[in-house]
Amino acid sequence: MSRIDAPPALVDRIDEMSLLVGCVDRAVQAGEGAVVVLRGEAGVGKSTLLTTFLERAAEQQAGAGLLTGYGQAMLNSLASDSFQPVRECLRSLTAAVQRSGSRSALERVVSSFRTNAPDWIESVPVVGQLLAAGVRTGQTFMESGRDGLEMDSRLDQLVRLIQDLVSESPLLMVLDDLHWADTATIDLLITIALRVEGPLMLVLAYRPDQARSAEQTHSLQRAVFRLCRYRPEARIVDLARLSSSDTEALVRQAATDRLIAPHVMSRIVRLSTGNPLFAESLVRVGEHGDGAAPVQITAVLEERLSYLTEDDQRLLETAALVGYSFEVDYVARLVKRGTSMTSTSA
Ligand SMILES: Nc1ncnc2c1ncn2[C@@H]1O[C@H](COP(=O)(O)OP(=O)(O)OP(=O)(O)O)[C@@H](O)[C@H]1O
Ligand SMILES: [Mg+2]
Repeated sequence: MSRIDAPPALVDRIDEMSLLVGCVDRAVQAGEGAVVVLRGEAGVGKSTLLTTFLERAAEQQAGAGLLTGYGQAMLNSLASDSFQPVRECLRSLTAAVQRSGSRSALERVVSSFRTNAPDWIESVPVVGQLLAAGVRTGQTFMESGRDGLEMDSRLDQLVRLIQDLVSESPLLMVLDDLHWADTATIDLLITIALRVEGPLMLVLAYRPDQARSAEQTHSLQRAVFRLCRYRPEARIVDLARLSSSDTEALVRQAATDRLIAPHVMSRIVRLSTGNPLFAESLVRVGEHGDGAAPVQITAVLEERLSYLTEDDQRLLETAALVGYSFEVDYVARLVKRGTSMTSTSA
């Protein structure tokens, strides 16, 4: 069972963190539910913010019995692995309860799975193992009375499970990288957001720039519209790039004990354009970074470009030839000239 890597000390993100913490506080203190949609380009810091937030929330609200789960959608999850990020989130939730050492909380989660969501038990092997070991009452899973639930879909079962969990403890579920999730998973999450009542805080994160062309991410955007229509209090947070001074702070932190010369610092700040992943990669290249771009940066850029049409890619190539800033008319003329030259030579 994978645990989330310890995130680095967070630079900035004060407003976003206080919004997230405010929601979880209201869930704990007033029993209020919340949905937060976090959007941002690759490497801007969504996962770092969310994992830091999760750790803080779990630590600060341990006394209130806050349950926390984190699931990340994968690019190539198998077709058979349906609802993969949700399953991962449930596994992480159960693992966190196990780590907390509270036997009663663990028994409660396990018995809620058994009663409300038998079809989800195989997604969280530890629950099956504990049931098989008769953790609660000595009853076996076979005796546990699935009758009556047979007709419920997995979706209904999951809603019941979550509804039951939040009837006793506040619950924080973070689903990351949803630009990779399939339509069924997105629908499932939106249904949870719309149907569960009580102290459920649901955080949904994705890259919006990939939601324009890839087939499955259209459904993600539609889902967010639906969410905003039926839960107008849902918060949409667009995670911006870092300011120059925050990028400097991040560079100093990433360089640990190495001293960064002022000209190297200003070069990294300029080239990274406030993207933390880019800034970190450039720190690794350091003084010798006058040649090729770090592989992480080209990987992100090429992935992003791969979603564009051929025409758009050519347009960008032409613009890049002109330089950092360009006039639209000039680029348009260049592109036109390029097209006519290609057709003449063809
Ligand atoms: N606020 C921050 N403070 C310090 N480091 C940060 C911050 N934000 C991001 N980073 C660093 O930048 C890198 C990229 O961030 P992260 O993985 O969180 O981006 P992301 O938005 O989740 O990207 P992706 O869409 O590719 O998943 C991380 O390795 C992290 O160390
Ligand atoms: Mg991420």
